[in-house]
This record gives sequence, structure tokens and C-alpha cells, in this order.
Amino acid sequence: MSLAQRRILLGVSGGIAAYKSCELVRRLRDLDAEVRVVMTEGATHFVSPTTFQALSGQAVRVSLWDAQAEAAMGHIELARWAERILVAPASADLLARLAHGMADDLLTTLCLASAAPLYLAPAMNQQMWAHPAVQANIATLRQHGAQLLGPAVGDQACGDVGSGRMLEPHELRDALVASFGDRSLAGLKVLVSAGPTYEDIDPVRFIGNRSSGRMGFAVAEAAAQAGAEVTLVAGPVSLATPAGVAQRVDVRSAAQMHAAVLAAAQADIYIGAAAVGDYRPLEVSAQKLKKHDGGELTLRLGENPDILASLSAQTAHPFLVGFAAETHDVASYAQGKLRHKGLDMIAANQVGGGLGFEAADNALTLYWADGAVELPRTSKAELARRLIAHVAERYRATRG
Ligand code: CTP
Repeated sequence: MSLAQRRILLGVSGGIAAYKSCELVRRLRDLDAEVRVVMTEGATHFVSPTTFQALSGQAVRVSLWDAQAEAAMGHIELARWAERILVAPASADLLARLAHGMADDLLTTLCLASAAPLYLAPAMNQQMWAHPAVQANIATLRQHGAQLLGPAVGDQACGDVGSGRMLEPHELRDALVASFGDRSLAGLKVLVSAGPTYEDIDPVRFIGNRSSGRMGFAVAEAAAQAGAEVTLVAGPVSLATPAGVAQRVDVRSAAQMHAAVLAAAQADIYIGAAAVGDYRPLEVSAQKLKKHDGGELTLRLGENPDILASLSAQTAHPFLVGFAAETHDVASYAQGKLRHKGLDMIAANQVGGGLGFEAADNALTLYWADGAVELPRTSKAELARRLIAHVAERYRATRG
């Protein structure tokens, strides 16, 4: 995740949750965002502007009538500067003033004067939040295009329990990251293989495997969302091409997948999510094999080329990410494959027990030469986004 060069205006209004916004600034700065903080007069009763100034590394503004600050960066300039405005906490009073288009302080003026998307993180006592006047203001703000983040349900500073708690800083940060889309692979070409391979025995029978292709398709989609130019080499699956994927090549056998991947191997990153068949029948019958008396049929199988190993044998090859679906001893097999196949990273998962091939959810452990990270059980789409974030990070660390 990165917010490098992203310009975020954080509005802080008067509520005890303002203390959490200090941590929010830290979290945004950790992702290299540029953050400027504007406080309402009320907010300064909870947290000092000096705190936000130290955390953001920028002067904090409170008043519309600060001649010195206006000379440095006028409020209209500041409104134009912002790519996102997040008001956290957004008090009942601030929501009321915004809903009615008031511009009676700097923060409300900026919200009116800016074309940037407006995000509001309400924080107030649950009784206040439930009040029809507040709810009417929220409805108006939504109609005007503001996006509400929270509030959450839980313990409140006033001792009540209910809806009105401000979202946690990391949740607000993630919402901002998502609002920009993760562009961590912008400018890179990513090649993804997905699905099973089928090795024909005769015109009606084949040797295949239980890969659904869903993990690989989710990876291709996540890479495209992250800004990559994605080529997807797909085995026999009936899945729609994910949004944003630039090119799709459909194949059936391991040999065809091998050829298609090598033809597109000028990519920056190859993610081998396909479950490639290791063996193929040496003779493919042109006619349907008939059943004969005697009970036994012997198929002679030959080994398929290993796609990842072929790529890693090339002198200039993409950053290589393999998958390892294992039923047992996941870590040792996966780390073995990482080494033997000369990979930069491997994503290992246990198959069986409701996870893996045909399941909607999955969990992965990523290994690289000197590190590992667990990606706990979640949807394949979410898992793919996290995988892509780690791939982007490792790519930048080793090739960037
Ligand atoms: N792979 C490949 N070419 C093959 C076989 C596998 O590129 N012919 C890739 C897969 O896409 C996956 C990784 O290698 O990213 C591991 O696949 P897997 O089938 O688990 O590994 P194998 O080397 O076939 O080992 P085994 O079947 O013995 O577990």
C-alpha cells in the first residue's frame, strides 16, 4: 500500500475522537501521503494544533482570518491542493453546517470550495447520532455526494454503548487507500497463468485437476486494479475475463500453456497460479478408446515441461511468483519449490478442509528467500489484493 504523492486534507472537528486522528496522521504519513490538517476552533479544545503540526510536518490551520497563513497558501489554493478531504471526527455540529452549505469557518469553507471527494467519519454520542436532525443532515450530505465512513458500534467515551464511535485510524487509512485504488504496479507488465490444464487421452477423455481458476483470475484482476498491464493465460475454465485485464490467451494443455507463457515472458512479473499437469499421455488416440475385456488399461505418461523452471533458466527473466497447493507439509514443500525452481516468491496453501481449489475462500502463506508472511483466510478477491501488495513490495525491494 502506498499513498506516495497523494494530497490529503484532514479536517478535525470538536470531539473526543480527535485524539485518534493524531494516529491517523501517523498512519497516512507511514504510507508517504502529504497531509495537511485543518481544525475547527472546537477541535483545538481536544488536541493542540502543535500536535498535528508535529505529526504532519505542516503548519496547521484553524482560522479563515489568519493573514499569515493565507499569504503562504490561500484557502482556495488549499481547497484545490486537496485530492481527498477527510473530516475525522465529524461532529454533529460540523455535519449540520456542511449539510446546509455554511461557510462560517475555514474547514466548512474548504469543503464547499473543493472539488475533491469528501469523506466524513462521524463521531458522537449514540443518542445524538440517532437524532432525526442528525440523520436528516446525513441524508442530505449523502445526496450531495459525501461518503460516510462509519460510525461504528461500540463503547463510547461518554460511557454509552451504541452507534456513533469513529472508525479506527487504520480503517480510515484503508478507506482512503481504496479510494485511490492501489496503484502499486503502475507501469509494470504482469503475466498471470490460471486454471487447470487438460491432457487429452482421446477425443472425449482427459487427465485434469480440480483447479477452478478463481484464485488466478482474482490475482489477474487485483494486478490490473493495481495499475499493471495484465496478460492472463487461462487453462480450460468457464470464467469471464476480469475487469481491466488487457489480454487473455486461452489454452488447454500444459504444453500450450508453456508456449503461451514463454511467448509473453517479456513481462516484469510472472505469477504462476495455474495448476499445471505434470504428466501427459505419450500417445493421444485420435479415436475414442474402446473398452476391452481384460480389465486393465495402461497409459504411458511423459513429463511436461516446468513453466516456472523454464523461465527461471532464462538469463533475463521476470520476477517469478509460484504457487504451491499441498495437502501436507506445506511449509517445507513450498520452501523447497521456491529454491528448486529459482523463484522470487511462493504462495503456499493447504488444500482440503474447505480451503483451496473449489472453495470461495482461501488462505496463503507467502515465502521468499529471507522472509514469510501469513495471509489469513478470506475471500479469494481480498487475498489476491493482499498477495499483489506483497508482490509489489518485494518487486520494488529486489528489482525496483
Ligand atoms: N508449475 C509450472 N509448470 C509445471 C508444473 C508446475 O510452472 N509443469 C508451477 C505451478 O504453476 C505452480 C508451481 O509450479 O506455480 C508449483 O506447482 P506444483 O504442481 O505444486 O509443483 P510441482 O513442481 O508440480 O510439484 P508436485 O506436483 O510434486 O507437488
